[in-house]
Amino acid sequence: MRKNKDKAHPPKYLSVGMLSERSGVPVSAIHFYERKGLIRSERDAANHRRFPRYTLRVLAVIRVGQSAGIRLEEIRERLGDATRGKALSREDWAAISDGWRADLEARIAALARIRDKLTGCVGCGCLSMDKCPAVNPGDRVAAQGPGAPGLDGRM
Ligand code: FES
Repeated sequence: MRKNKDKAHPPKYLSVGMLSERSGVPVSAIHFYERKGLIRSERDAANHRRFPRYTLRVLAVIRVGQSAGIRLEEIRERLGDATRGKALSREDWAAISDGWRADLEARIAALARIRDKLTGCVGCGCLSMDKCPAVNPGDRVAAQGPGAPGLDGRM
Protein backbone atom coordinates (compact mmCIF):
# COMPACT_ATOMS: atom_id res chain seq x y z
CA MET A 1 0.00 0.00 0.00
CA ARG A 2 1.39 3.41 -0.93
CA LYS A 3 1.46 6.27 1.50
CA ASN A 4 -1.50 8.54 1.05
CA LYS A 5 -0.59 12.22 1.37
CA ASP A 6 -4.10 13.38 0.42
CA LYS A 7 -5.42 14.75 3.73
CA ALA A 8 -8.83 15.44 2.22
CA HIS A 9 -9.24 11.76 1.40
CA PRO A 10 -7.36 9.69 3.95
CA PRO A 11 -7.21 5.96 3.27
CA LYS A 12 -9.87 3.79 4.92
CA TYR A 13 -7.30 1.10 5.63
CA LEU A 14 -3.73 1.35 6.85
CA SER A 15 -0.81 -1.02 6.58
CA VAL A 16 0.82 -2.02 9.83
CA GLY A 17 3.71 0.34 9.01
CA MET A 18 1.39 3.28 8.41
CA LEU A 19 -0.53 2.46 11.58
CA SER A 20 2.71 2.37 13.54
CA GLU A 21 3.90 5.64 12.05
CA ARG A 22 0.63 7.45 12.73
CA SER A 23 0.06 6.06 16.22
CA GLY A 24 3.63 5.93 17.48
CA VAL A 25 3.02 2.33 18.54
CA PRO A 26 5.77 -0.09 17.47
CA VAL A 27 4.86 -2.66 14.82
CA SER A 28 5.66 -5.46 17.27
CA ALA A 29 3.16 -4.02 19.78
CA ILE A 30 0.49 -3.75 17.08
CA HIS A 31 0.95 -7.42 16.22
CA PHE A 32 0.86 -8.25 19.94
CA TYR A 33 -2.43 -6.38 20.43
CA GLU A 34 -3.89 -8.18 17.44
CA ARG A 35 -2.84 -11.57 18.82
CA LYS A 36 -4.44 -10.62 22.14
CA GLY A 37 -7.71 -9.70 20.40
CA LEU A 38 -7.69 -5.95 21.09
CA ILE A 39 -7.55 -4.93 17.44
CA ARG A 40 -8.20 -6.76 14.21
CA SER A 41 -7.04 -6.51 10.65
CA GLU A 42 -8.33 -7.65 7.32
CA ARG A 43 -6.36 -9.10 4.44
CA ASP A 44 -6.01 -7.42 1.07
CA ALA A 45 -5.70 -9.18 -2.29
CA ALA A 46 -1.97 -9.67 -1.69
CA ASN A 47 -2.73 -11.20 1.75
CA HIS A 48 -1.23 -8.22 3.58
CA ARG A 49 -2.75 -7.02 6.83
CA ARG A 50 -4.85 -3.87 6.50
CA PHE A 51 -6.23 -2.13 9.56
CA PRO A 52 -9.39 -0.03 9.45
CA ARG A 53 -8.55 3.62 10.01
CA TYR A 54 -10.47 3.74 13.29
CA THR A 55 -7.84 1.38 14.74
CA LEU A 56 -5.83 4.55 15.43
CA ARG A 57 -8.40 5.56 18.04
CA VAL A 58 -8.45 2.07 19.55
CA LEU A 59 -4.65 2.12 19.83
CA ALA A 60 -4.81 5.49 21.58
CA VAL A 61 -7.25 4.06 24.12
CA ILE A 62 -5.07 1.00 24.65
CA ARG A 63 -2.01 3.16 25.27
CA VAL A 64 -3.85 5.44 27.69
CA GLY A 65 -5.15 2.41 29.56
CA GLN A 66 -1.73 0.85 29.78
CA SER A 67 -0.16 4.09 30.96
CA ALA A 68 -2.76 4.12 33.75
CA GLY A 69 -1.78 0.57 34.73
CA ILE A 70 -4.97 -1.08 33.41
CA ARG A 71 -4.43 -4.75 32.50
CA LEU A 72 -4.78 -5.67 28.82
CA GLU A 73 -7.63 -8.09 29.61
CA GLU A 74 -9.53 -5.25 31.27
CA ILE A 75 -8.84 -2.94 28.34
CA ARG A 76 -10.13 -5.59 25.92
CA GLU A 77 -13.31 -6.03 27.97
CA ARG A 78 -13.94 -2.30 28.06
CA LEU A 79 -13.32 -1.92 24.34
CA GLY A 80 -16.16 -4.38 23.72
CA ASP A 81 -17.39 -4.22 20.14
CA ALA A 82 -14.46 -2.02 19.11
CA THR A 83 -12.35 -5.20 19.20
CA ARG A 84 -14.79 -6.82 16.77
CA GLY A 85 -14.87 -4.18 14.07
CA LYS A 86 -17.09 -1.42 15.47
CA ALA A 87 -15.64 2.07 15.27
CA LEU A 88 -15.00 3.62 18.68
CA SER A 89 -17.15 6.68 19.27
CA ARG A 90 -16.58 9.61 21.62
CA GLU A 91 -19.39 8.23 23.75
CA ASP A 92 -17.64 4.86 23.92
CA TRP A 93 -14.44 6.56 25.09
CA ALA A 94 -16.37 8.57 27.70
CA ALA A 95 -17.84 5.35 29.11
CA ILE A 96 -14.49 3.57 29.09
CA SER A 97 -12.63 6.40 30.78
CA ASP A 98 -15.40 6.81 33.34
CA GLY A 99 -15.07 3.12 34.29
CA TRP A 100 -11.31 3.43 34.58
CA ARG A 101 -11.51 6.52 36.76
CA ALA A 102 -13.17 4.59 39.61
CA ASP A 103 -10.56 1.86 39.32
CA LEU A 104 -7.74 4.42 39.34
CA GLU A 105 -9.16 6.21 42.36
CA ALA A 106 -9.36 2.92 44.29
CA ARG A 107 -5.76 2.09 43.42
CA ILE A 108 -4.56 5.58 44.31
CA ALA A 109 -6.28 5.27 47.71
CA ALA A 110 -4.65 1.86 48.29
CA LEU A 111 -1.24 3.24 47.36
CA ALA A 112 -1.73 6.22 49.65
CA ARG A 113 -2.50 3.83 52.54
CA ILE A 114 0.68 1.89 51.79
CA ARG A 115 2.68 5.12 51.55
CA ASP A 116 1.34 6.34 54.88
CA LYS A 117 2.16 3.06 56.63
CA LEU A 118 5.64 2.96 55.17
CA THR A 119 6.52 6.51 56.13
CA GLY A 120 8.34 5.28 59.24
CA CYS A 121 10.31 2.76 57.16
CA VAL A 122 11.88 5.30 54.85
CA GLY A 123 15.56 5.42 55.70
CA CYS A 124 15.04 3.03 58.67
CA GLY A 125 15.84 -0.47 57.43
CA CYS A 126 15.20 -2.17 60.79
CA LEU A 127 12.42 -4.47 59.58
CA SER A 128 11.56 -4.88 63.26
CA MET A 129 9.14 -7.72 63.93
CA ASP A 130 7.55 -5.63 66.64
CA LYS A 131 7.14 -2.18 65.14
CA CYS A 132 7.68 -2.29 61.37
CA PRO A 133 4.47 -2.26 59.29
CA ALA A 134 6.30 -3.91 56.40
CA VAL A 135 6.77 -7.25 58.20
CA ASN A 136 4.29 -9.75 59.57
CA PRO A 137 5.55 -10.92 62.98
CA GLY A 138 4.68 -14.52 63.73
CA ASP A 139 2.37 -14.55 60.72
CA ARG A 140 -0.48 -13.54 63.06
CA VAL A 141 -2.69 -12.55 60.15
CA ALA A 142 -2.22 -15.64 57.98
CA ALA A 143 -5.94 -16.37 58.28
CA GLN A 144 -6.66 -13.19 56.32
CA GLY A 145 -5.03 -14.59 53.22
CA PRO A 146 -1.79 -14.08 51.34
CA GLY A 147 0.03 -10.79 51.04
CA ALA A 148 0.38 -8.02 53.59
CA PRO A 149 -3.06 -7.25 55.06
CA GLY A 150 -1.58 -4.48 57.20
CA LEU A 151 -0.51 -2.62 54.11
CA ASP A 152 -3.35 -3.16 51.67
CA GLY A 153 -6.19 -2.05 53.94
CA ARG A 154 -7.53 -5.44 55.16
CA MET A 155 -6.58 -4.61 58.80
S1 FES B 1 11.96 -0.71 58.37
FE1 FES B 1 12.01 0.16 60.33
S2 FES B 1 9.92 0.54 60.77
FE2 FES B 1 9.94 -0.46 58.87
